[in-house]
Amino acid sequence: MVRRTVSELSPGMVLAEDALTPGGRFLMPRGTILDAGHLKSLVAWNLTEVTVIAAAEANPQSTEAPPSSASAPVADDDGDGRAAAEAALAERFACSDVAGGPTAVLYRLALDREVRRLQAGGPVADQTPVAEERSRRPIDPATPGPLSLEGLLRDEPKLVSPPEVYLRINDVLKDPASTVDDAAESIKHDPSLAAKLLRLVNSSYYARTMRAMRGRFPAKIDSLSRAVMVVGARQLATLALGVSVLPLFQDIPPQWVNMRLFWEHSVGCAAAAQAIAAATGRINAETAFVAGLLHDIGRIITFKQAVVHMGVAMRRAEVEAVPLFVVEREVIGFDHAALGGHLLQKWQFPANLEKMVRYHHDLGEPLFIDEPAVIHLADIVATAMGWGGSGNRRVPPLDPAAWEALGLTEDGLAGLVPVMEARLAETMRSFFPDHQGPP
Ligand SMILES: [Fe+2]
Ligand SMILES: [Fe+2]
Repeated sequence: MVRRTVSELSPGMVLAEDALTPGGRFLMPRGTILDAGHLKSLVAWNLTEVTVIAAAEANPQSTEAPPSSASAPVADDDGDGRAAAEAALAERFACSDVAGGPTAVLYRLALDREVRRLQAGGPVADQTPVAEERSRRPIDPATPGPLSLEGLLRDEPKLVSPPEVYLRINDVLKDPASTVDDAAESIKHDPSLAAKLLRLVNSSYYARTMRAMRGRFPAKIDSLSRAVMVVGARQLATLALGVSVLPLFQDIPPQWVNMRLFWEHSVGCAAAAQAIAAATGRINAETAFVAGLLHDIGRIITFKQAVVHMGVAMRRAEVEAVPLFVVEREVIGFDHAALGGHLLQKWQFPANLEKMVRYHHDLGEPLFIDEPAVIHLADIVATAMGWGGSGNRRVPPLDPAAWEALGLTEDGLAGLVPVMEARLAETMRSFFPDHQGPP
């Protein structure tokens, strides 16, 4: 924990204490990952110094890590537990180079986490009942022919048109003159969406804000207009856009993937993307969060509409020890990222959201690399750390061009992972109160 003058701050640093104006007015909560907007606000409110903990550029060993740190050292257990953890991770990291570079950093953090999990009596990773059931499913002897993107979407009635509430929210997002009232109005007609949105707003981002503001505002954000006030109209509309699509997650056939694990992988990728976006300043943090939430939406469609193909693809990914998206391209003709991007384009989602989803496994198009690179790395972090799963067991290889485009350091990435993990746990608990955080 160190005091820094405002001029010494840079995006990615994390506030160790609430930021208050010289007059004592609450400005930002402890735990805020500073982005360019925060830095401007601090200057605008005449703050001279704040206390920060971890920063993307900082050496994590020299700063105080947040609670539930994934980088905390694990006591040497003479191989007891560590050997089992290493065996589990050997499968997960089968396609990655763990000898050096950022993937080695993630391997070390994942190994520490697995050892802690085993020492706490948790199950060996990657051996969930769903995985066992899946491995017993017979492989279809016939090799099915490729499918078409349009055909898959056409066969799913829920996908022919976007949720009605989405259209209203999208109108607000497209209109630069939209107001606070417009944003709240577009959401409040769907009570289920509004309730989910308020839970989300009350959890990972703003729980600390609300605690800090207790006495001046209610402890919880209990209305949309108050949520707009805290989050901002456009940011709330962006979050609502993501949440409006979440009912699709309930349709995942359980024989493929446990819905809750899929949700955890999606929230983990969202939390990671948000932290990476804030640290690198590449894209708006809320947009990154929503792109992370929806990044594997194409796989929900293939699990429902391409059952035989996915059976073949998942078995081949197991046997050949490759990421599932690689086999999807061979068996189906395209991967879930292309399908998800196609769906979001059809629904006229904002173009940057669509591109982040469409290219998260395909960074061959250099024009688009900055934005998809955020989701590419976020998905790798979520998979490497074992945060849920969307059917794929192998950490995809990190594209060197994406890593370079992001401009992160290895120490910076290590410092961000505990922040992501804490945010994932808070968001999961807001949707599943019995959710157990990481050990
Ligand atoms: Fe993916
Ligand atoms: Fe993913």
